[in-house]
Amino acid sequence: MKKSRKLRNWDNKTWLSSKSYISEFNKFLKTKINLNKNSKILDVGCGRANIISALQKKYKFKNNPVGIDVVANKNVKKNIIFKKIDALKYLKKKRKYDLILIKQTIHFFTKTKSNNLLNLAKKRLNPNGKILIFSLKTKNNRIPCFKKMRKNLEKSLKRDENLFKIIKKNLKKISYTNFNYKVNISKQKYVRMIRERYISCLLNMSNKEINLGISEIKLKYKNQIKFTDTLKCISYKK
Ligand SMILES: C[S@@+](CC[C@H](N)C(=O)[O-])C[C@H]1O[C@@H](n2cnc3c(N)ncnc32)[C@H](O)[C@@H]1O
Repeated sequence: MKKSRKLRNWDNKTWLSSKSYISEFNKFLKTKINLNKNSKILDVGCGRANIISALQKKYKFKNNPVGIDVVANKNVKKNIIFKKIDALKYLKKKRKYDLILIKQTIHFFTKTKSNNLLNLAKKRLNPNGKILIFSLKTKNNRIPCFKKMRKNLEKSLKRDENLFKIIKKNLKKISYTNFNYKVNISKQKYVRMIRERYISCLLNMSNKEINLGISEIKLKYKNQIKFTDTLKCISYKK
């Protein structure tokens, strides 16, 4: 049986965990929601919790933000409350939040489970609370890929388009914006990210496929790789 791998290196010393990315992202969040020291935050699929940790440093919330993930990575940030738990299980707890952040995580859920996730998330919002969902943009995505990786990514982005329809049907009153981040990364670092299977479309590839892909990337890109990482932001207000 094929071993199913978990995503562990997404934010392990990548641009997604860089100070500059987190700071740009949190600046963007500020345009979406007014946070203050009384705000209660839940980050669904928080990874190493870089985002909520930076928010905690800035706002000094009375209640530390809660981050949940099915994977407990070694270096999860310490100034937040981390729980290793499935989101659907955690959201059954009757706690309320002002912000429920679901960043680059909803694509892990099937159609039925994403509906369950959204229904539970809506119930867990305080009055005026917000759900913010971030997901890779599906058209003209600029993530540097080798052929097989592109094929897998396109397949998953097609799935995401259906997911967006499910989200719209479920949440109804939503608004859309884009978060753009200009990535400038050395080819060497990007190759390491691919080797460490940083993105879910690499998880099920064999080592041979990954090695072939890396050779392709080495030929295709210059020493410094530049592109814009664009996320669609779906905003729902209670
Ligand atoms: C692509 S990473 C995004 C991490 C972080 N939100 C960020 O943007 O840097 C997706 C995360 O969702 C987590 N995840 C997947 N399914 C989950 C579930 N059912 N409940 C909680 N977390 C889940 C994965 O373990 C992974 O850490």
